[in-house]
Amino acid sequence: MHKKSLSFIILVMLVCLSFFAGEVAAKESIKKEPFGMVNGQPVGLYTLTNENGLVAKITNYGGTVTSFIVPDRNGKLGDVVLGYDNVNSYVKDNHYFGAIIGRYANRIAKGKFILDGKENNLAINNGENALHGGKKGYDKVIWNAKEIRTNEGVGLELTYLSPDGEEGYPGNLSVRVDYVLTNRNELKIDYFAVTDKKTVINLTHHSYFNLAGGGTILEHELMLNADKFTPADKGSIPTGELRSVKGTPFDFTKPTAIGSRINQNEEQLGLGSGYDHNWVLNKSRSGVLTLAATLYDPKSGRLMKVFTTEPGIQFYAGNFLDGIMAGKGGQVYPYRSGLCLETQHYPDSPNKPNFPSVALNPKEGYRQTTVYKFSTK
Ligand code: GLA
Repeated sequence: MHKKSLSFIILVMLVCLSFFAGEVAAKESIKKEPFGMVNGQPVGLYTLTNENGLVAKITNYGGTVTSFIVPDRNGKLGDVVLGYDNVNSYVKDNHYFGAIIGRYANRIAKGKFILDGKENNLAINNGENALHGGKKGYDKVIWNAKEIRTNEGVGLELTYLSPDGEEGYPGNLSVRVDYVLTNRNELKIDYFAVTDKKTVINLTHHSYFNLAGGGTILEHELMLNADKFTPADKGSIPTGELRSVKGTPFDFTKPTAIGSRINQNEEQLGLGSGYDHNWVLNKSRSGVLTLAATLYDPKSGRLMKVFTTEPGIQFYAGNFLDGIMAGKGGQVYPYRSGLCLETQHYPDSPNKPNFPSVALNPKEGYRQTTVYKFSTK
């Protein structure tokens, strides 16, 4: 064929291809709608859509992800997080569905810790301990919201000023959490904070995932990039030991079905009523974004990878879900129908000098990044 006509044909093909690609790629968007009132204040629901048609719905009440809609291996869309249809149910909820957790995610023994010689007393809300920020944590406050567009995708910038003494924590803490739904099919969460007085901080995100979009999570295969975990007492306070997972039901170094060992007669599983523990992530350097977990549902083919800058991850298997509250679309969420992978510092770190420090000084910045990346297999 003549050289000129060949290059013309190639040119026409390229134009057609780019036109076709433009036709199929969804346009990323953000849509805001009202989500009801809390204490006389309106809250919004933001629908983020990426170029591939993935949808994340987030409300500024609690910085809560209410829906995350991703395709299965046949392209069928499904919601992979547990939640409610209306804000009143989130106000009443005590499972922390989809929320931002702070000022201190997880437990602090007896709600007490000493910082620079001064004892701090926190609100107690979990037996004798403080859990997830206290009686009114960051999951129960209204955040200021600003829509954002980055070169990675669309998102929401949430800010909250946590006053000095709130739930017993010292220092005015100015917190910012950016949620970005990227065009690489990730929910990327960036956390920032600054304080005016020395304090402790441990922020996380509390989505309950079910990659099958229904049923239990017992057949999901989990991999945790951790050779050790922190065994705990009956109040879920770590003993301080970093224990090897080798030869125990806590070994998820290779993808393993969650249900295959969860009911074993083992001391730590008994104390936690199943998996509800912190794993010590394998990291060569602290603060770098590394793979923490993979979660795979063989039925739908959905695969989620979790990356984090944090040193630990709490894997909670939904052991306290009881199938009584009405969730989205009236469905009830049975026992172990959702699981949390909460990237964080280890529980009770303020009282454990051998754990990585959670202290934050004025003029220092707190940063953490966690990415939940979706694909199929
Ligand atoms: C966590 C804790 C669990 C439980 C849930 C909320 O992640 O580790 O023990 O309190 O939150 O029900």
